[in-house]
Amino acid sequence: MAFFQPSKPVTNLVASFLLLGLINISIVESRRHVLEGSDVSYPAINCRKHTAFLTDFGGNGDGTTSNTAAFQAAVQNLSQFADDGGAQLIVPPGKWLTGSFNLTSHFTLFIQYGAVILASQDEGEYPLIEPLPSYGHGRDGPGGRFSSLIGGSHLTDVVITGDNGTIDGQGSSWWDKFHQGKLANTRPYMIELMYSNQIQISNLTLINSPSWFVHPVYSSDIIMQDLTITAPVDSPNTDGIDPDSCKNVKIQDVFIVSGDDCVAVKSGWDQYGISFGMPTEQMIIRRVTCISPDSALVALGSEMSGGITNIRAEDLTAINTESAIRIKTAPGRGGYVTDIFVDGMNLQTMKYVFWTTGAYGQHPDPGWDPKALPKVDHIHYRNVVAQNVTMAGNMGGIDGDSFTGFCLTNVTIGLSDNPKKLQWNCTDIAGLSHNVTPKTCTNLVDEGLIECEYPKDLIPIDTVQLQTCSFTAKNQFL
Ligand SMILES: *[C@@H]1O[C@H](CO)[C@@H](O)[C@H](O)[C@H]1NC(C)=O
Ligand SMILES: *[C@@H]1O[C@H](CO)[C@@H](O)[C@H](O)[C@H]1NC(C)=O
Ligand SMILES: *[C@@H]1O[C@H](CO)[C@@H](O)[C@H](O)[C@H]1NC(C)=O
Ligand SMILES: *[C@@H]1O[C@H](CO)[C@@H](O)[C@H](O)[C@H]1NC(C)=O
Ligand SMILES: *[C@@H]1O[C@H](CO)[C@@H](O)[C@H](O)[C@H]1NC(C)=O
Ligand SMILES: *[C@@H]1O[C@H](CO)[C@@H](O)[C@H](O)[C@H]1NC(C)=O
Ligand SMILES: *[C@@H]1O[C@H](CO)[C@@H](O)[C@H](O)[C@H]1NC(C)=O
Repeated sequence: MAFFQPSKPVTNLVASFLLLGLINISIVESRRHVLEGSDVSYPAINCRKHTAFLTDFGGNGDGTTSNTAAFQAAVQNLSQFADDGGAQLIVPPGKWLTGSFNLTSHFTLFIQYGAVILASQDEGEYPLIEPLPSYGHGRDGPGGRFSSLIGGSHLTDVVITGDNGTIDGQGSSWWDKFHQGKLANTRPYMIELMYSNQIQISNLTLINSPSWFVHPVYSSDIIMQDLTITAPVDSPNTDGIDPDSCKNVKIQDVFIVSGDDCVAVKSGWDQYGISFGMPTEQMIIRRVTCISPDSALVALGSEMSGGITNIRAEDLTAINTESAIRIKTAPGRGGYVTDIFVDGMNLQTMKYVFWTTGAYGQHPDPGWDPKALPKVDHIHYRNVVAQNVTMAGNMGGIDGDSFTGFCLTNVTIGLSDNPKKLQWNCTDIAGLSHNVTPKTCTNLVDEGLIECEYPKDLIPIDTVQLQTCSFTAKNQFL
């Protein structure tokens, strides 16, 4: 089982050889790519009986030829194996320019180390689709939505993985058009799977999405792990992972640098989300590291009208991030954010550790109901260490609709050189606290020795064992 993944020193060594011009092709190639005929093995929810390479369908990895037709033909062709053991499509080393394409069921897209799927910057490569029913409108404006780069609807058993291959959204042209107000339609997401179940997205590097990176919506039984996701910290709406009206979800071992929330848990927008009525529930977020100076490590909302409940988050790290867990909602949203459990956060350089906002605003259209008030209750945080913080808690609820059931225990917050005078601003908030430094607001009553809850049971997706799958590599060069 020859499987090569260079360690960092090897990469650095290769880089210095390149610089010195002392490059030995055979060493570099054998280090950087799997050898012809060698097996590549990888963990997945299901292995596949049939294997094909993008090059079998006319794919061209020169970085300038469009592979949209090749991807579409490959998926179309391989869909015939859905009832015959499924198929894996291998994207070999190279730069594969493409527009939007959809996946199929019982299917694996494997992006090899050294392979880059390059998203086309041509709007015509992303056919317009309807707004999401739980949003009523596109998120960037009232028009339709450009299809996501990689999409799929009503699928079962879909894997997008690799040995750290890359998907590059080439977002800069979209960000410019967005800033200049030149877009009539909502930007493409990088990956969007809708009405699907049994999904795995893993072992990839995702960079520069035009907007949100990974958007599973109306879907269930989802594993997203071992991902590196990066976009410039000033890029617009480049959320890392946005589970939206999804159930039984695991996010684990993910490193995210983003211009927006690293993880944003959602469930539809105002009257559209209320009538669609599909919550995000049963989720574990584990070992996520986030850098996002203007946004949150984990946001709950602001689109939460179908409800968000039973979310566990543990062992999180944020560096130079605006806030840790942020609850964002407003009158008109309806819905609920309840049973949120967080255990273990290590935070370095942050504006607010605890942040809740009951006046987030942003409505899809004037048809929202001001009487549709969200319920926020039973929010537990324990074992938090933070350093270089400007303000410990900026916690606002809604007048006449207090956010209740907060619990904060074992929280130690070190302040920055220029901290706010008022460290806790609690308005329309109620709950308990114990062993919190600096001392909390009186709304969070210290009743002595308590420990906030964290569920002991696992959610079902957390017990799924991955199989070891493989394919035989072909001779491929960059
Ligand atoms: C697509 O599938 C058919 C079988 O239905 C097969 O004969 C054909 O070779 C495949 N096309 C390509 C390009 O692999
Ligand atoms: C992908 O699937 C969506 C949803 O079914 C559909 O609207 C869209 O046209 C498909 N895109 C392509 C490129 O086939
Ligand atoms: C995927 O990531 C896991 C965790 O880092 C690692 O054990 C596994 O070998 C990786 N698989 C591939 C194919 O790179
Ligand atoms: C994958 O590639 C990214 C970008 O080069 C790198 O930062 C990350 O450490 C790699 N992950 C693994 C598991 O090798
Ligand atoms: C308090 O939290 C810190 C950081 O997570 C942890 O190391 C420590 O064990 C916790 N103390 C208790 C009593 O749980
Ligand atoms: C502390 O935070 C400030 C911003 O509030 C930042 O400029 C500074 O570099 C941080 N210091 C450390 C030691 O991280
Ligand atoms: C405290 O928060 C409330 C609303 O959340 C805001 O209106 C008020 O101005 C804040 N007070 C201070 C002193 O920042």
